[in-house]
Amino acid sequence: MFVGHNVSFINDKYPRATIDGRLKNDDDWEVIPTLVQKGASIGTGSTILCGITIGENAVVGAGSVVTKDVPPNTIVAGVPAKIIKENITKGETNNNIAFDFSMETGSLA
Ligand SMILES: CC(C)(COP(=O)(O)OP(=O)(O)OC[C@H]1O[C@@H](n2cnc3c(N)ncnc32)[C@H](O)[C@@H]1OP(=O)(O)O)[C@@H](O)C(=O)NCCC(=O)NCCS
Repeated sequence: MFVGHNVSFINDKYPRATIDGRLKNDDDWEVIPTLVQKGASIGTGSTILCGITIGENAVVGAGSVVTKDVPPNTIVAGVPAKIIKENITKGETNNNIAFDFSMETGSLA
């Protein structure tokens, strides 16, 4: 997978510093996981809400706020992120324009 610069992964949907008049501690909250599947790319400056799955080979456009699951092989973009292209193949759009996510070379996926 590829994660661009300044991408934020949210792990608490309703953050609070205190509970019942005292500071919260580790026992008072639960980390909500996010799953980014193989081959997915997340554009620069995006924010990914928690409890979300970003499907295989999906692409998140730069500056997006992702609030829902992203299906595999789709491109989402915007605030909130919406599907702008479907059934893409890895490395290209429906228009066969190659992505230049060059840092993907040597990544884990
Ligand atoms: C999302 C992305 C992959 C789309 O590329 P594409 O498939 O070539 O799409 P297009 O440029 O044809 O744009 C399609 C539409 O989506 C819109 N769009 C594209 N990227 C967008 C974005 N990041 N946020 C909001 N809308 C976006 C375009 O304005 C266009 O809208 P229109 O149909 O109303 O004119 C690309 O724009 C992007 O954001 N890539 C991420 C780049 C990045 O962060 N790289 C990190 C390393 S530098």
